[in-house]
Amino acid sequence: MIRNLTSPPQVVTSENRTALKGQRPIVIWLTGLSGAGKSTIANALELALLNAGRHTYLLDGDNVRLGLCSDLGFSDQDREENIRRISEVSKLFLDAGLIVITAFISPFRRDRDLARSVIGDQNFIEVHIDTPLTECERRDPKGLYGKARQGLIKNFTGIDSAYETPLAPKIRINTLEEDLENSVQRILAVLQENLEA
Ligand code: ADX
Repeated sequence: MIRNLTSPPQVVTSENRTALKGQRPIVIWLTGLSGAGKSTIANALELALLNAGRHTYLLDGDNVRLGLCSDLGFSDQDREENIRRISEVSKLFLDAGLIVITAFISPFRRDRDLARSVIGDQNFIEVHIDTPLTECERRDPKGLYGKARQGLIKNFTGIDSAYETPLAPKIRINTLEEDLENSVQRILAVLQENLEA
């Protein structure tokens, strides 16, 4: 690939955009199994932030896997590329001054580490939605665990593809033990600490 690229000087800076929005941009990275409750928590969190007058954007399967990443499947390499693109988009949205929420399985530690390094450690809050596999499988909202058990879907996370548990997430939420409101409040509290830092 030819990389004859030079960046033109930016007239409007990240600081300008951030100042206009009156907030410190940050990325809240939700990871967890399919059916763990990532999207539910992400949506409730975004609504709470919106109601508090914050400028946000939620990246999830609905708006990423149907468009930007519609060419990708669920092999290890495709998941890596999915997370790489999401990391780069998150970085751009951060530069735009937004509070970004991402809701992807992101099953592999090295891919989440890559996301952290692309986005910047100080801008990255990892949240593990730590609902046990048995409960995700019981919920099976899209019927996909059933299909994976029958061998109709290959490489399904938790069945025949690994989920590598985060070693030191900033927040861990087990949706069997904690209700939605509590979960959102806990994320908002950590966000508040970071926004003041
Ligand atoms: S990730 O592994 O690349 O982060 P992502 O969060 O984008 O995955 O997509 C996961 C969603 O895709 C699941 O919630 C499920 O609805 C659907 N899906 C389809 N096939 C698979 C599969 N083989 N493994 C996991 N999820 C799958």
